[in-house]
Amino acid sequence: MRGIHFSDGACSGCFDPLSVDSADPETGRRTELVPTHTPELFAAAVARAIELLRAGEVVALPTETVYGLAADARNRAAVRRIFEVKNRPLENPVIVHVVGEEMARSCAAQWSPEASQLAAAFWPGPLTLVLPKSSWIPEEVTAGGRTVGIRWPSHPLMQRIIREAGFPLAAPSANRANEISPTTAQHVYASLSGRIPMVVDGGASHVGIESTVVDLSVRPPRVLRPGIIHEESLSAVAGEIRLGPEDSGILRSPGQLERHYAPKARLKVVAWEDERELRRQLIQWGADPAGVHVLAYQRVPSAEEYGRVCVIPHDPLAYARAMYSEWHRCDELGARWIVVEKVPETAEWRGIADRLQRASAQSVEG
Ligand code: TXA
Ligand code: MG
Repeated sequence: MRGIHFSDGACSGCFDPLSVDSADPETGRRTELVPTHTPELFAAAVARAIELLRAGEVVALPTETVYGLAADARNRAAVRRIFEVKNRPLENPVIVHVVGEEMARSCAAQWSPEASQLAAAFWPGPLTLVLPKSSWIPEEVTAGGRTVGIRWPSHPLMQRIIREAGFPLAAPSANRANEISPTTAQHVYASLSGRIPMVVDGGASHVGIESTVVDLSVRPPRVLRPGIIHEESLSAVAGEIRLGPEDSGILRSPGQLERHYAPKARLKVVAWEDERELRRQLIQWGADPAGVHVLAYQRVPSAEEYGRVCVIPHDPLAYARAMYSEWHRCDELGARWIVVEKVPETAEWRGIADRLQRASAQSVEG
């Protein structure tokens, strides 16, 4: 595994689902990993997913951001099951996925001009709008709150399932709480096999980090979770939008909790001018270079002494697509440390910098 690797965010390729016993020890239940690479398989996956969703099951489905763990948003018991499967804290609300503005409006008690503008500019796509909730949205979805997060995803499989099912899908990322979000079906399978009946394989998620979450229930609107659609693009379309939650002391989006999105290895974000400087910092932390995986985009160190050196593309879209996949890979390979070259501080990199900061914050506590 030593040497320099170039990352494209594609599936890591070292995972063989048949080698994993997916049966749940309590229920004996097995998880189907369902392919979609021919029109027939695609149609069969859609039909099977809808059948399970109608029966109140939760299933893992691809979206363009990360894989989601979906249930019928109208079905309280099914939504509660999402929380059980993920071991998710009950106070963390779940995003409702829709197709079309009409379905989106049906989830909201009030629809604002900003919602129309942002929807027209960025949907379908990696943007979640937080609005006052419609009365039919169960409190299980919103964690008892009066607002609901709504997103129209662009992944064709997710769109087809929602359109054909005819109801919105509540779906958080398809990982156990505090793990990295999955960007391939294999990541989901490794985390949740035996706990859910089905994972639909729709390929690697091409955005690669979770959607931007914008709170439109406050004035001016606020970005609660940065993502690939950044605040400058949002403001250009819908006027003033501030970065970060209102300083009210109330946790508006538990995605803001620092203990989120972290790999098992300790992750450090570091700037270095040359290899000597990188080396000096590793010595300071007492890190053995053999257990260090370096993710660099610009100043790529020579590979001999490190566990692995991976080059991530120096373009925020390509970087985001590859990032979680690389963290997953480092964990699979048993990295002790993930050392990430510091990324720029511009708006385009905001979502990436946010996830790096959270991942490194948690790792400090181990
Ligand atoms: O890209 C995504 O958003 C993915 C895919 C599956 O759509 N979903 C996702 O869900 O990342 P999750 O549950 O892992 O993160 C949802 C974030 C959390 O930070 C949650 O607190 C916030 O959105 N959120 C959801 N509903 C909210 C609401 N009503 N008010 C404030 N924040 C909300
Ligand atoms: Mg999540």
